[in-house]
Amino acid sequence: MNQRVLSGIQPTGKLHIGNYLGAVANWIKLQDQYETYFAVVDMHSLTADYKPAEKREQIMATVIELLASGIDPKKSTIFIQSQVPQHAELAWYFATLTPVSFLERMTQYKDKAARQKENINAGLFTYPVLQAADILLYKPFGVPVGEDQLQHLELANDIARKFNARFGSTFEQIKPLLTKTPRVMSLLEPSKKMSKSLGEGHVINMNDEAAVIEKKISKAVTDTGSTKQMSAGTKNLFTLLENFGEPEEFNFFKEAFASGNIKYSDLKKNLAKLIAHHFADYRRRRKELEKNPEQVMRILAEGKEKAQAVAARTLTEVKTKMGLVL
Ligand code: AMP
Ligand code: TRP
Repeated sequence: MNQRVLSGIQPTGKLHIGNYLGAVANWIKLQDQYETYFAVVDMHSLTADYKPAEKREQIMATVIELLASGIDPKKSTIFIQSQVPQHAELAWYFATLTPVSFLERMTQYKDKAARQKENINAGLFTYPVLQAADILLYKPFGVPVGEDQLQHLELANDIARKFNARFGSTFEQIKPLLTKTPRVMSLLEPSKKMSKSLGEGHVINMNDEAAVIEKKISKAVTDTGSTKQMSAGTKNLFTLLENFGEPEEFNFFKEAFASGNIKYSDLKKNLAKLIAHHFADYRRRRKELEKNPEQVMRILAEGKEKAQAVAARTLTEVKTKMGLVL
């Protein structure tokens, strides 16, 4: 069986615990079993409003965050999307196979277009085509992502099928690899997924210090504690407790809830401590890497070479099948 796995992340800001529980924690596990490729998709991030002066910092920070979380360059290939030009090239070929009506259905496009009305650029619309190219260039069997990306992975499979039907069998269907927590919710609006675009109070960053985490969680919405029906906010906190705590703590609060005696202030204090503790090493490694940009640049130079070698092979195969190689 094909042993490759690929995923991507946009360099838009700080990693939060939604990114971690939905995707990055899984990447760290998968790198021990498979040949793993992780792309920092800087080209995708240009479809949102941004300041050029900040982009470089954001890209470097995202690489550092992935390394600090435990992505190991000895086990995984970590690279910057724009440094492997085959991504943009394949995206063009795929664009010629993708019906506009398929892109119009993409919920992420519709959400983002509604949020950035002044900047509904063509890149935002064709974003999932570039994502399909990111993936299929490496011919992975699986793509570890959070639940919000499922529709994009289905589109990648649609494009793969269209390519195969027209030019002969080339791409296998990919499988989404989800964690048991594929959708972490916002602290303040638990009907929405945790996302940095909602604002600081909604997310817990992996880099947040204990006091910051405690303050944010103290404001998280719960319920009156008297109902047996758990609210979305409370459910979200329990999910976090399940992920970051020991089963005994989880069961203790579960029973307190069932008996109507739960004290949310206790639950929140405990949870804040657990999260801060869980990422203590991460914060330390992040600081070390920040002092060592040369080491990060070396890792990226190596990643670029390794990614390009695979990407170039697929692109040559694609161009040959499409009749472009003279
Ligand atoms: P992004 O920051 O949007 O590039 O997302 C990077 C990865 O984190 C993707 O695989 C997303 O599906 C995943 N992700 C983002 N937000 C969440 C969330 N709230 N819960 C679970 N996974 C998430
Ligand atoms: N669209 C993804 C997100 O917002 C990021 C991404 C780009 C990606 N290319 C990818 C994820 C390829 C998986 C595989 O999270």
